[in-house]
Amino acid sequence: MEENIVSHSYKINMEERRKLNGHNSLLIFFTGLSGSGKSTIANALEQKLHEDSITTYVLDGDNVRKRINSNLSFKPEDRSENIRRIGEISKLFVDAGIVTLAAFIAPYRKDTEFIKKTVGSINYIEVFVNTSLEVCEQRDVKGLYKKARKGEIKNMTGISSPYEHPIQPDVEISDEHSIEKSVDIIYNQIRNNIKL
Ligand code: ADX
Repeated sequence: MEENIVSHSYKINMEERRKLNGHNSLLIFFTGLSGSGKSTIANALEQKLHEDSITTYVLDGDNVRKRINSNLSFKPEDRSENIRRIGEISKLFVDAGIVTLAAFIAPYRKDTEFIKKTVGSINYIEVFVNTSLEVCEQRDVKGLYKKARKGEIKNMTGISSPYEHPIQPDVEISDEHSIEKSVDIIYNQIRNNIKL
């Protein structure tokens, strides 16, 4: 079917949208275990960017999985499909001129590599929220680790499903950093990338 589809070229492109916004667009991709703090840090960073009049949008695993990806489970193929779709959606957001923040476990390196390739490495900042399993399990905000230990949840990342640590993230955050400090570290890293 694809052979009968011809792309249409529009007059307003990413560069024009970026100019109108007065800043560059890019994807800030947060990866880490469930409960590592990805969403919390993404939320705080988005607030800071918003205060700076930067147009932003957050894609978050828990939210996206309730709607567009509600047909996907946590088995490996479905996680990859989840991240593939997020890569394609992020590409559209970056094309729309928006500073996009995405918070997903994304446990497989091949999937984050796909995202980087899809949005373009120049538009991609990978943030590894490196909170240990022990700390995530201690926090257990959603009670999922407890359920997983009892065998009530299958394929729980870190317990019964793998998490491949990113090899060369652009930014690494540890659980010793406060939220404010984490935001500062990421902000300093992306400041120049956001400038037109
Ligand atoms: S991913 O692996 O496909 O990237 P994603 O980030 O979308 O995962 O979703 C993770 C969220 O789903 C977690 O924060 C957690 O709240 C919830 N969740 C439910 N079941 C699981 C599971 N088996 N493993 C990990 N997270 C789960």
